[in-house]
Amino acid sequence: MKILVMGANGRLGKTLVRRYSQQGLDVQAIGRAELDLEKPDRVADTLSRYDFEVLINAAGNTDVDHCELNPANARLINAASPAAAAAHCAQRGARFVHVSTDYVFAGDQPAARRETDPTGPINHYGRSKLEGEQAVLAALPGALVTRVAWLFGIEKPSFPDWIIKQALAKEDVGAVDDKWSNPTFADDITEWLLDLLQHQAGGVVHLCNQGGCSWLEYGQATLDIAASLGLPLKTRVARGHTMQGFAPFKAARPPFTTMDTGLFTRLTGTTPRPWQSALEDYLRRQYSPPS
Ligand SMILES: NC(=O)c1ccc[n+]([C@@H]2O[C@H](COP(=O)([O-])OP(=O)(O)OC[C@H]3O[C@@H](n4cnc5c(N)ncnc54)[C@H](OP(=O)(O)O)[C@@H]3O)[C@@H](O)[C@H]2O)c1
Repeated sequence: MKILVMGANGRLGKTLVRRYSQQGLDVQAIGRAELDLEKPDRVADTLSRYDFEVLINAAGNTDVDHCELNPANARLINAASPAAAAAHCAQRGARFVHVSTDYVFAGDQPAARRETDPTGPINHYGRSKLEGEQAVLAALPGALVTRVAWLFGIEKPSFPDWIIKQALAKEDVGAVDDKWSNPTFADDITEWLLDLLQHQAGGVVHLCNQGGCSWLEYGQATLDIAASLGLPLKTRVARGHTMQGFAPFKAARPPFTTMDTGLFTRLTGTTPRPWQSALEDYLRRQYSPPS
């Protein structure tokens, strides 16, 4: 299986390339320097120069607030270019895996969302990603569209690294307590994608570690693990605050976007491990003192 990863310099893209290379798979990487996704008309020509059987699109404009201020740019990167990539795969008979988000949901239902539940994005990032899902499946109905959430991983710092950095520097560490989702280890996604490819899965599939939590619970779990690793934290307790009035947020965030992974388990026979176990695995690898 010859794999080409788009977005190969991002958190998930880099993880895919590292893990698949380590496993001896035939994997190539393509980044912004080779293909600028603001130019959907260049996608087919660029991809035609690569030899692959499976294309994984881990690229995207993932800056929610940038998307809010630049919706046309978000649509080019998150919808038009993925659609062009899917059309190219359809034409050459390759498989296409697209990565989407829990932000396609409105987040107004306090229950884990299934793939069949209605979508209803409340910001331009979510709208552009939903448009991307639909355009990809219209161009290539057999494409696999995976929705992931709250990624953390070795390749690029994310929320747990930010919480630890704050707690190492000061005594007051805050985290949002009225937004819920699924913390998800990028390394785990690489295995789940191989599972889905082996089972010839297509359509929309939710992919995240088991169990939902608030950002505050996620932050507190991070501090608990960091304390157990002996990090010299200035505080071991995260303080909760609401999203409303949180100055850095320009775009509204959907409050409750926890996802159900039952479909993934039915398709593959695999049950994702709980987020707490994945988080501990990550933090131990990243922050354990040298022995
Ligand atoms: N991170 C999360 O918590 C999260 C949650 C839900 C869904 N997702 C989805 O998961 C996927 C991967 O996320 P991630 O965390 O790995 O994102 P990321 O670290 O921001 O990586 C995104 C990649 O897309 C590339 N990119 C952006 N604009 C581009 C352009 N115009 N042309 C070419 N490449 C461009 C970036 O290139 P540069 O490196 O050159 O900037 C970057 O390598 C995305 O589809 C995202 O929507 C992520």
